[in-house]
Amino acid sequence: MSHDNPETGSRIPGFYRLSLDERRRELARRGDLSDDDMRTLDAGGLDTSTADGVVENVVGLYALPLGVGLNFRVNGQDVLVPMAVEEPSVIAAASNAARLVREGGGFLAEADDPIMTAQIEVIGVDDPAAATARIEAARDELLGLAHATLPRLAERGGGARELEVRALAGRVIVHVHIDCRDAMGANMVNTVAEALADRVAGLGGGRWGLRILTNLCDRRRVRVRARVPGQALATGGLDGGAVRDGIVSASRFAEDDPYRAATHNKGIMNGIDAVVIATGNDWRGVEAGAHAFAASSGRYRPLSVWRVEDGDLSGYLEMPMAVGTVGGTLHAHAGARLSQRLLGATSSTRLAMIIGAVGLASNLAALRALATEGIQRGHMALHRRAAAVVLKGNGHDSPDPA
Ligand code: MEV
Repeated sequence: MSHDNPETGSRIPGFYRLSLDERRRELARRGDLSDDDMRTLDAGGLDTSTADGVVENVVGLYALPLGVGLNFRVNGQDVLVPMAVEEPSVIAAASNAARLVREGGGFLAEADDPIMTAQIEVIGVDDPAAATARIEAARDELLGLAHATLPRLAERGGGARELEVRALAGRVIVHVHIDCRDAMGANMVNTVAEALADRVAGLGGGRWGLRILTNLCDRRRVRVRARVPGQALATGGLDGGAVRDGIVSASRFAEDDPYRAATHNKGIMNGIDAVVIATGNDWRGVEAGAHAFAASSGRYRPLSVWRVEDGDLSGYLEMPMAVGTVGGTLHAHAGARLSQRLLGATSSTRLAMIIGAVGLASNLAALRALATEGIQRGHMALHRRAAAVVLKGNGHDSPDPA
């Protein structure tokens, strides 16, 4: 498939060969960025006095490189992907893999409604079955209370959708599922958990314990599919079919072995965290959700699998994705706002789909390298580039520490 216009879209051949200034001019043109935006890129999007109002005991700022993932097409729409990451090769690898997936038509993604879940723990319950029945019978009242707690969310079409009661040993747990629309939603969900606790504990005949969201937001999943024509995978003298089969074998290894699955998923999170961080979202929450979901069958599993379909390589990723396009750090962080604008994600679900695509791309790049020449050659070439910068910074002039 090639309907690529080199003047627009996310495919920018030779971008990495341009100077930093040229890259920024190209980005400004394609992303419709202003001089102010360019100054934001210089300053990292945050100044010390703003930072002082964001967290405690502030003494300065901590910077990360911000790069652009190229070649991404998600549900037929091109997107330039801001990625904040310190590890060399993550951005190049994701961009290369996105180019391969583009040959198969790009990423196809879907996302659940943005449902987050509040947990209210009730302890000291004598009869959990009776407590469960009473709380379930008060479902409408409790959902109404949750709605009343978040009137502005209700105005935006979100709000409490469902209530669920789980009896665990020694405690009853009430889940309130809340549609958070374009927010990640942690504050809103925690507010509901605290607002409902007295009534829930009363109905349960016990005392409330913890009142907090769960990061295992398994009702807020993203699903991404990618297809690469076999021949597009050829590399280093290996034909595409052999590379494709090597990637499938690597996937099966991860499916069979939690030790490998952890590293497989780390490769996915390389891309995911970079976009989550660049867009001002809570990457600890996304990480917690990813790994809890990976282990939710009772055994830690890969978040993506790869198979052969009609001769093509076909990949599928599914995982929770709690990210927002409003709220959180966005009010304070001009860099995060700029990243969001560059992405053009008009909803939290679209952002989740793009992030899932970047995760699957990072995974594909890692498996393709591992199944062929290994990651060290490409990785170390880029590491040496980074080491050269460090040495220059230290007053050395040799890029080779040896
Ligand atoms: C390195 O940051 C990520 C990899 O280890 C992922 C993988 O092994 O699949 C290359």
